[in-house]
Amino acid sequence: MLSPLSLGLFGMLLSLTPTFLQSCSGSTSMTALLRLAAAHTIGTTACFFMTDRLYNFSPARGSDPSINPDFLLELQSICPQNGDVNVRLPIDRGSEQTFDKHILENIRNGFAVLESDAKLYDDETTRIVVDSYLNPILGTSFEADFVESIVKMGQIDVKTGSNGEIRSVCSAFN
Ligand code: HEM
Repeated sequence: MLSPLSLGLFGMLLSLTPTFLQSCSGSTSMTALLRLAAAHTIGTTACFFMTDRLYNFSPARGSDPSINPDFLLELQSICPQNGDVNVRLPIDRGSEQTFDKHILENIRNGFAVLESDAKLYDDETTRIVVDSYLNPILGTSFEADFVESIVKMGQIDVKTGSNGEIRSVCSAFN
């Protein structure tokens, strides 16, 4: 089974994302989303989220051509067709336990695990931002920008007093 925490987090993020994006506009919202999605520098995902990307990717119904060919073989051996969809793998290959911008290098080089992360390098607006974080001459601070975006997300629909609760278990009401 997918962990309740992951499903809860994923559901929460999907429900928050439109609200978050409404508070920004145009390329600002895409940049903000990119900064937050870079939270995928830590954590794991399940083969469940990989199946279409590996074996049934539109329009040709093969694999996602944006995946580096060596990485494709690696992913297919971890997540074989018709295999166990609950097997988990790192989202940020090679640096899954460290908060850093390695995920952005992976995204640029075709090593993104999640399709939503890979798409960040397809779109011109977000590709420019990925490249700027990786360019040492520009010196753009991914860490500082992430903090700004996560604080902003933390201000969405905040419930106070008896309107809300701080959960003991993240995926369930107390
Ligand atoms: C467009 C927005 C996003 C999409 C589509 C997305 C998608 C996903 C997916 C599919 C997973 C794997 C879930 C699983 O296999 O159980 C995941 C995991 C994760 N996401 Fe995102 N995400 C988004 C934004 C964010 C944001 C904004 C954050 C935090 C600020 C975040 C933090 C995480 C973390 C930490 C994990 C790993 C969870 C674990 O290890 O169990 N994601 N995300």
